[in-house]
Amino acid sequence: MNLNIALLPGDGIGPEVLAQAVKCLEAVEETFNHQFNFREAAVGAIAIERKGKPLPNTTLSLCQDADAVLFGAIGDPKYDNNPDSAVRPEQGLLELRKALGLFSNIRPVKVFPALIHNSPLKKEIVEGTDFTIYRELTGGIYFGEKKLNTEGTVASDLCEYSEKEISRIAHLAFKAAKNRSNKLTLVDKANVLESSRLWRKVVTKIGESYPDVTLDYMFVDNAAMQIILNPSQFDVVLTSNMFGDIISDEGSVIGGSIGLLPSASIGEESALFEPIHGSYPQAKGMDIANPVASILSAAMLLEHFGLFEEAMSVREAVDKSLRKKIVTPDIDSKSQYGTNQVGDFIAENIVDNGDDFNMNDENIDLGKSTII
Ligand code: IPM
Ligand code: MG
Repeated sequence: MNLNIALLPGDGIGPEVLAQAVKCLEAVEETFNHQFNFREAAVGAIAIERKGKPLPNTTLSLCQDADAVLFGAIGDPKYDNNPDSAVRPEQGLLELRKALGLFSNIRPVKVFPALIHNSPLKKEIVEGTDFTIYRELTGGIYFGEKKLNTEGTVASDLCEYSEKEISRIAHLAFKAAKNRSNKLTLVDKANVLESSRLWRKVVTKIGESYPDVTLDYMFVDNAAMQIILNPSQFDVVLTSNMFGDIISDEGSVIGGSIGLLPSASIGEESALFEPIHGSYPQAKGMDIANPVASILSAAMLLEHFGLFEEAMSVREAVDKSLRKKIVTPDIDSKSQYGTNQVGDFIAENIVDNGDDFNMNDENIDLGKSTII
């Protein structure tokens, strides 16, 4: 397969973790005979510095012309701590999501067996956690009208949703539930918000066309609690933009590190893949950031194009790195491995593990990725 992939490293640790994902895609390219053409562009704080805005036109058109976008991270404390700043790095990502029509953000929350002891929760609670969040990404309070009165003393953000915006992501979430364990939980605040009541109405109606899927409803405050009390009750979680933002960060720590979880943002014509973690500016350039979320985002990219074996080889190489403790210090504080070494190990262990082959574990342990 020939794919044009736009690379947007962004800020903080973005460039370092993205470089590891690219290494892995290059290993896939070589192992499975594909051709991936990478082209890079600036987004976020770095783009503000270089070009005066967080999403320069050249970056947007590169993404529009590409088959997929691989994104690093965005954000810089310089802007976070200045509420008066007229331009912010995050606007670049929001504009990009909107311009590419990426209405569906898919965030799988899974616990790696090798890392169960890393979870802040008890083993019995964490075991078996495997759910996927479908977060609406181009509507709601993020994109509603924003107001600030002239005195600067009263502000508001409008949360607006249309039936169309709700139904297009709801269909994707129901389809995902059909391919998983047939359970969909709509997370909302329908006891208070009109927009949530519309979500309930639209999703309930759509549910009639998916009779195999059990639909239940949960208020977001309760969901925040249930995610840490009993995460394995969830299969597919469908929710609006801001609720999805919040509960996906919560879900991400269940597995022991926010550095492990990837995401896919899908629209009619474009697709973008990014780790769910932020730019972690304190770790920038220190070679300690966990590249796994970025690498697994590349695996989601491969799946998006139907390259399932290829994606599986990446996932298996990641599992191997976790089992062999080739991990960054967020997973094991005594670890001597850095971002680059973890990326190298995973890329080197990407092999064609088709039916006729068996991986020789011993050789892999010795660092020789031999297939017998
Ligand atoms: C995320 C991030 C973004 C969001 C920020 C960086 C704008 O937190 O992708 O979850 O709020 O959507
Ligand atoms: Mg977030």
